[in-house]
Amino acid sequence: MTERGISRREFAKSAVAIGGTAALAACLDRGSGTIPEGTDDPASLPDRQHAWDASLATDDAGNHRLSRHHVLLLLDYTEDGMPSDSDREQVEAALRDLERAYEWSNEGLLFTLGYSPAYFDRFDADVAGVDLPEPMALAPFEDPELDTPDALLHLASDDERVVIEAEEALKGNRDSANDQDMSATFEGVFREAERRTGFVGAGLPAENQDVDGIPDSEPVPDEAPLFMGFKSGFKENQASEDRVTVDSGPFAGGATQHLSKIRLQLQQWYEQDSRGQRVSKMFCPAHAAEDKVEGVGENLGTDNGAGECPDDVVDSGRRKGVVGHAQKMSRVREDGTPTILRRDFDSTDGGEAGLHFLSLQRSIADFVATKQAMNGTDVANESAVGQQVNNGILQYMTVTRRGNYLLPPRSLRSLPPANPDA
Ligand code: HEM
Repeated sequence: MTERGISRREFAKSAVAIGGTAALAACLDRGSGTIPEGTDDPASLPDRQHAWDASLATDDAGNHRLSRHHVLLLLDYTEDGMPSDSDREQVEAALRDLERAYEWSNEGLLFTLGYSPAYFDRFDADVAGVDLPEPMALAPFEDPELDTPDALLHLASDDERVVIEAEEALKGNRDSANDQDMSATFEGVFREAERRTGFVGAGLPAENQDVDGIPDSEPVPDEAPLFMGFKSGFKENQASEDRVTVDSGPFAGGATQHLSKIRLQLQQWYEQDSRGQRVSKMFCPAHAAEDKVEGVGENLGTDNGAGECPDDVVDSGRRKGVVGHAQKMSRVREDGTPTILRRDFDSTDGGEAGLHFLSLQRSIADFVATKQAMNGTDVANESAVGQQVNNGILQYMTVTRRGNYLLPPRSLRSLPPANPDA
């Protein structure tokens, strides 16, 4: 505890994790550089809310680099019945204000607003053309809480000032965003059910490693973009935005979104496992034997190389006693590419090391199939590999929450009906 009675961990929290006007004031004081302004021509922005890739920075190898700071707001619509036109207009006006205030880019603001099965329940019709199931447990060994807010807002920027300020402006705690007046807010329409935050990118995990789940020896390398010490999201191992886009029906141009909250326990990962074991479990034993991964994995370029891991995972598990995460996941590729687009990031919410696993896919079924491959139940049943031990990275993570959402195309993002064509 510090003199002021705040625990050291609480004190070390990042501004985005704390949020609110005080954190914003501190950030604005120490922040430097102008934030690029947006546009008042909505037609110049992509139809897809999830069209972020073209507006993200790229790394030296050409991989898209996800924005560094993230806020997730789980929101409830304040009305139980059908959304009114005035509420729709208010939400749309507030979102357009953000687009006017900040450039649609990693330096400005990227965001999506999605809706849950609980939201669509208020309509008589089913969601048109998209299967949007209620979230559920997806492994015999997990028991997550199932999220049922009406909506999920995802704010992302390389600049922590932007995500905090945009949030405060939407909540009506601030009259302007990037020095431009807000004409509308979410006040009276959306109520916050829960706030989650996070970060991804070199330096941030090391800076934020003073949390439960990470040993006190501060083992997270400075250059690691994620707590587990490896780079993720190589270009060749991500679905394209086209692949995850709903391609027919009134929600064409949209996507489905899955969000899970994962608690990380990295004591053994860093204090007992060797570098070779970590590479074996994250990628595959062959990558460890051939020293394929240097440091956090920058040397892999644009491809994790899992295509070269033995693809008979059960046989590989029998021979090596361990199977890799990427090795298992590469079993569900379609035409050589995964079917989900991962936009996950680390978190210190609740003082615990965690990861908000956020993925986009055309259908939630694509996510479920991918997650089933990760469970590796077949390998556990047919080899000495355990259900969680030596089974990729399952031993180090616990899924505590799951939620499913539909990201409508931009034109339907403000309180959409279940069947816009009806
Ligand atoms: C603690 C959580 C996780 C961490 C740290 C993590 C990390 C990684 C890393 C380092 C790779 C290899 C590099 C790359 O291709 O990006 C990878 C690949 C992958 N991961 Fe994860 N992952 C996690 C959870 C998940 C979950 C929950 C899923 C989905 C159910 C998932 C799906 C995938 C897929 C589809 C690939 C690419 C497989 C391929 O190459 O075909 N990951 N992950």
